[in-house]
Amino acid sequence: MQHLTLTQPDDWHLHLRDGANMASIVKATSRCFARAIIMPNLKIPITTVEQALAYRKQICAIDSRFNPLMTLYLTENTSVDEIAKVKNSKHIVALKYYPANATTNSDSGVKDWHQVSPVLEAMQEYDIPLLIHGEETAPHIDIFDREKVFIEKILERILKHFPKLRVVLEHITTKEAVEYVMNNNLAATITAHHLLMNRNEIFKGGLRPHHYCLPVLKREEHRQALLQAATSGNPKFFLGTDSAPHAQSAKESMCCCAGIYTAPAALELYAEAFEQVQALDKLEGFASFYGADFYHLPRNTQTITLEKRTWQMPTHFEFGEEKVIPLRAGTDIYWVQN
Ligand code: DOR
Ligand code: ZN
Repeated sequence: MQHLTLTQPDDWHLHLRDGANMASIVKATSRCFARAIIMPNLKIPITTVEQALAYRKQICAIDSRFNPLMTLYLTENTSVDEIAKVKNSKHIVALKYYPANATTNSDSGVKDWHQVSPVLEAMQEYDIPLLIHGEETAPHIDIFDREKVFIEKILERILKHFPKLRVVLEHITTKEAVEYVMNNNLAATITAHHLLMNRNEIFKGGLRPHHYCLPVLKREEHRQALLQAATSGNPKFFLGTDSAPHAQSAKESMCCCAGIYTAPAALELYAEAFEQVQALDKLEGFASFYGADFYHLPRNTQTITLEKRTWQMPTHFEFGEEKVIPLRAGTDIYWVQN
């Protein structure tokens, strides 16, 4: 297949950062995606409707045709009143649950889920989705097991207590997560990088900081399970890039930040992954339909076309006063958006 025309897709999990860093980052996504769910883990986390609306304004000022769907960062101080405000705001669509210290800017996250129980109750009542970073952070847990342990220890209990809460397990990375999502009342996003890479890519010929993300890349058998889920046509699995830019200096450092910047070729990378398993016909559902359906939003009506043509990803992009290195920097990408 040389051309692939799809209903315009949306990105159901995206990091844009803020201030000067954000200028080039928004357009990398809006060139292709109509809408995106914007993660709230800024240095000062977005915990209120007011903050989220101010952040949204900054994003819209960069590209007014792009529709950022905002989220609030759930903390143990989030009030039930704030949830009522979310319910009345058409621009704020979900809350994000970070286990404390699980990832970038997550120190204000949840230490004990019982502390946020009244908020989850209100979210269930108002039908507001909860987006979960599913990793157990106790230091004795092996980093490759964090997702599996979180599912067993925390997620299972949350779903039991709140059976009608609409939950997305974000950026799943394991076959255990795939199975859990298939058998329980929740949905999941899958990134392009977890579909294309296994954990060998972190160590290929040396340590590769630009392949370090959280949840960390896993074994090949897990990548295969993710590929199967994404291309299965099961509407519980949909596109969320988790594109997460960091300054080059923060990645190539003594203590590298987690995050892979995929936005400049996000859909093209998904196409490459789907093509690997001869499932390009399943890309439209995954990229353009199932996420919108989950969030009870209309599907987009425009289309976009991808062409099978090799091009080179630039070595870097501007990132405020610094640079950001994209996935595949200086190397080949096999699909291009017309
Ligand atoms: O790799 C990641 N980067 N995973 C996350 O959960 C957060 C993200 C970021 O904000 O950098
Ligand atoms: Zn993320």
